[in-house]
Amino acid sequence: MKKFLFTTYLTLAFFCLAFGQQLKSPNGKLIMNFALLADGSPTYNLTYKDKAVIKTSKLGLELKNDQKSLLNDFTIANVQSSTFDENWTPVWGEVKTIRNHYNECAVTLSQKGTNRQLLIRFRLFDEGLGFRYEFPTQKGFTYFVIKEERTQFAMAGDHTAFWIAGDYDTQEYDYTTSKLSEIRGYAEKARTENLSQTAFSPTGVQTSLMMKSADGLYINLHEAALINYPCMHLNLDDKNMIFESWLTPDAKGDKGYIQVPFNTPWRTIMVSDDARDILASKMTYNLNDPCKIEDTSWIKPVKYVGVWWEMITGKSSWAYTDDFPSVQLGITDYSKAKPNGKHGANTANVKKYIDFAAQNGFGGVLVEGWNQGWEDWYGNSKDYVFDFVTPYPDFNMAEIRDYAKSKGIKMIMHHETSSSVRNYERHLDTAYKYMKANNYDAVKSGYVGNILPRGENHYSQWIINHYQYAIEKAAQYKIMVNAHEAVRPTGIARTYPNLIGNESARGTEYQAFGGSKPNHVTILPFTRLQGGPMDYTPGIFEMDISKLNPGNTSHVNSTIANQLALYLTMYSPLQMAADLPENYNRFPDAFQFIKDVAIDWDDSKYIEAEPGQYITVARKAKGTGKWFLGSVNGDNSRTAQFKLDFLDKGKTYIATIYADAKDAHYKTNPQAYVIIKVVVTDQTKLSQFAAPGGGFAISFTEADKAQTKGLKKL
Ligand code: NOJ
Ligand code: CA
Repeated sequence: MKKFLFTTYLTLAFFCLAFGQQLKSPNGKLIMNFALLADGSPTYNLTYKDKAVIKTSKLGLELKNDQKSLLNDFTIANVQSSTFDENWTPVWGEVKTIRNHYNECAVTLSQKGTNRQLLIRFRLFDEGLGFRYEFPTQKGFTYFVIKEERTQFAMAGDHTAFWIAGDYDTQEYDYTTSKLSEIRGYAEKARTENLSQTAFSPTGVQTSLMMKSADGLYINLHEAALINYPCMHLNLDDKNMIFESWLTPDAKGDKGYIQVPFNTPWRTIMVSDDARDILASKMTYNLNDPCKIEDTSWIKPVKYVGVWWEMITGKSSWAYTDDFPSVQLGITDYSKAKPNGKHGANTANVKKYIDFAAQNGFGGVLVEGWNQGWEDWYGNSKDYVFDFVTPYPDFNMAEIRDYAKSKGIKMIMHHETSSSVRNYERHLDTAYKYMKANNYDAVKSGYVGNILPRGENHYSQWIINHYQYAIEKAAQYKIMVNAHEAVRPTGIARTYPNLIGNESARGTEYQAFGGSKPNHVTILPFTRLQGGPMDYTPGIFEMDISKLNPGNTSHVNSTIANQLALYLTMYSPLQMAADLPENYNRFPDAFQFIKDVAIDWDDSKYIEAEPGQYITVARKAKGTGKWFLGSVNGDNSRTAQFKLDFLDKGKTYIATIYADAKDAHYKTNPQAYVIIKVVVTDQTKLSQFAAPGGGFAISFTEADKAQTKGLKKL
């Protein structure tokens, strides 16, 4: 399957060495220029179809401990140019094969006085630029500590940005849409409460950052292959519209401990005049290493339900008892505790979910609150919170294991670490072994609250290494990982496809914590999903949370049709149907779509896209050849119009359209939907209404004449 072409040639031309280097994308639309300033500072700029995307911007790093910085006094020692074109097959994904096609330029710099070598590798794809710093093995420069990375991204205008506030500890913010110059003014409002949060600057923002220029360019800044390095934020100099990298510090305030040879993560700039190109781009994955897991046959996409939403809404509890103000694992005696009567993870309730999953074709059941310790799990910087192997008295591990097995259901383990990371690492091997012994091959992990060791941040180098350790260790045990509150993904799932999901953004849980903005889901695919799939947990049908828990007055800002569309627009090989079985039983015709929708794809076509407003995507299911389509809508109602030309030519399909009723509205009438069945082909033009915070979902089934009889042709 693999098409492989690799050529390297040395460019020794005097012109390049003296004045810098120019690199063109394979289609010629992007041009990157590298040059040294008079003081030997490395710089780059980027244009797209002759329009400035990144104005001349400086590159380099500042070092600690009186080591001369890697910012200037450089000369060009060597330039190597090459081109690369390869197709690879992801283990799961939006498409069957991914093309990795770029032109590369590797510039080796030598620093006057120190003789240190710094290599900057640029890769220019049709969708954007990736570059990283490389430190080749060299005498006298082996260990150093980063004070600050000083990579600049000089923007060419006061763009509209879709941003969340820079923070060392949480990514669970709603997006703010504003001009770059307005970020400072919105900084306070943009930061809502979280159990762990650390701001660093009023103009600090997180990646992936999405922007739109006044002349219609869509620009995205992010990073790829974040390994053994702190996560990068961006800090804006809002006088000059220059972003600069801002690395997450460790407990001591240091930004990174480096041992040479070393490569930093890639800094990425995606650009297009068509927003759909940003969504379809695979550049972030392409900048990661190929798969390092030899046998991937055990990695399987899964649709699941869980004992979860009932706790998130406050209907049930993770805790078993209300008796214990504090818990000491191994000492606290649960056998004498009075059950609080609302513990969700009890054997009977879990069996109910297993039955529901089996009846409706789901593959997995997640159970949270199954293990001892939840009475006293966060807020007190407690080290030994959970041991990940001791169930509550009313959770019969063996009985549940056997019952799930008999019904063909895989249980999904839950490891909430409460951010006591050292404690988790101490227990990790035992915990993974316990999972395997009980027939679990997927884990949802979580990092709520402040990190232990105390003073560490959620995205500093030390804990980036922990997240990676947990993924690689899991791969050894053939365990799939879905990490919540871990660092936003940067395409690492290409290398370790057992990382089947992350949360790492504001997920559906916030709809039960007061609500999210109705257009949130029209932004996430442009930002958070650029690095990998999100366990967004869609599928909420009851939007009035007080119906589940009278004490919770939250409202889910979304219509039922919008919830269905999320199974397409929020691509993930791991998809939850998050609501309670009783709510699905009230709307069996809408629930049918969640039962039918595929989770792994041969092809994906982005049909319409505008960040903050709408996203429409059609996907062809792996194996069955069935097409599905999802469209999510922002604050204002609209009528989408497009041709179904992605459908297979010459075939006739029955399209089942699940759409907002005319009077639907995310706030006032979220459960108003209509379902129609019509006959369509690749020639059909669709005109489809979507309510505010709404959308539509379609499943297409190939049909013969007899089956289409009596149905309207569109
Ligand atoms: C936050 C996670 O995002 C959520 O899914 C989980 O239920 C809680 N932490 C408890 O672990
Ligand atoms: Ca979370």
